[in-house]
Amino acid sequence: MKRVGVIGVGKYLPKKILSNSDLEKTVDTSDEWITTRTGIKERRLAAKTEATSDLALKAAKDALLDAKLNPSDVELIIVATVTPDMQFPATACLLQNSLGAKNAVCFDVAAACAGFIYAISIAQQFIARGVYKNALVVGAETLSTITDWQDRSTCVLFGDGAGAAVLSEVKSGGIISTYLGSDGSMSELLMVPAGGSRNPASYKTIDSRLHCIKMRGNELFKVAVNTMTHAAEAVLKQAGIKISEVNLIIPHQANTRIIAAVGKKLGLSLDKFYLNIERYGNMSSASLAVALCEAVKEGRIKKGDTVLLDAFGAGLVWGACVIKW
Ligand code: ACO
Repeated sequence: MKRVGVIGVGKYLPKKILSNSDLEKTVDTSDEWITTRTGIKERRLAAKTEATSDLALKAAKDALLDAKLNPSDVELIIVATVTPDMQFPATACLLQNSLGAKNAVCFDVAAACAGFIYAISIAQQFIARGVYKNALVVGAETLSTITDWQDRSTCVLFGDGAGAAVLSEVKSGGIISTYLGSDGSMSELLMVPAGGSRNPASYKTIDSRLHCIKMRGNELFKVAVNTMTHAAEAVLKQAGIKISEVNLIIPHQANTRIIAAVGKKLGLSLDKFYLNIERYGNMSSASLAVALCEAVKEGRIKKGDTVLLDAFGAGLVWGACVIKW
């Protein structure tokens, strides 16, 4: 088996910023409520002309530049997203075309906020077995297109963006362990009820706003804390690494209070976690991808560091990954 690592990272955030005070003008909320309950101050919104694959393209180009690779070097593209450009073809295929990555095999992964870890885990196995040499893993979302902008309990939480990582064989370090979990019995806690075969689009589904995110936030909060803690402990056990040996944890950015509660259970303070939720909110699959990129670019991750990625999301699904940088 080959050793697999991240050899390049990239990101793209749409220019338009929606602040908490902007939201105060459209729904019954306050900057104070959003900040204290979630840690979010602002989020980005894609332009009307920007679909998920457009965001993904910019992040992918950034990551390939960082990895010093050309699009033709990419043999596998996985896009993690719950907001694809359309039901089919896969957003990964649309990205392949706009990127000019003619030699790549392409597909999407729908594992919500854990999507980036699921995609990394799949790409790692293809490369480790020598099937493909270089893989482009992208987390990209336009959650603003499935947000109910009249529902204050959800519209303050989400944002748009894309992050990307290039995976390839490395001489030292790399991905030490990945851990994935799922529990479909809790799917009703977080879903977009219409638009699929269960509730195809109709005037009724649109009038009832069933094409938007429906979330039981309070119940989800507790499950999120437990699953993220469990995933972190399980992946570290698998890797034979103690939590004290981890230099930085990059958690899914759903809520600062969730991250603090996971930290408390793991015996860690918040400064052990990378946080950018204040600027971007929850970007589902894109959150971890963007956070990993920013942590590298800001020098929070240095060569030789041990990094833990940790996420949960709709499904429910969860996952964690230990990478030696
Ligand atoms: N502004 C002001 N008040 C609000 C707002 C708002 N934006 N939203 C809700 N409230 C009110 C509620 O109506 C409620 O009022 P009441 O007490 O009069 O009934 C009160 O605030 C408390 O509501 P709760 O839902 O209990 O608030 P909570 O502290 O649980 O925070 C939150 C809500 C932020 C959603 C939290 O539960 C959370 O973060 N949950 C997890 C969300 C999550 O992780 N989602 C994962 C998404 S991942 C993916 O796959 C996309």
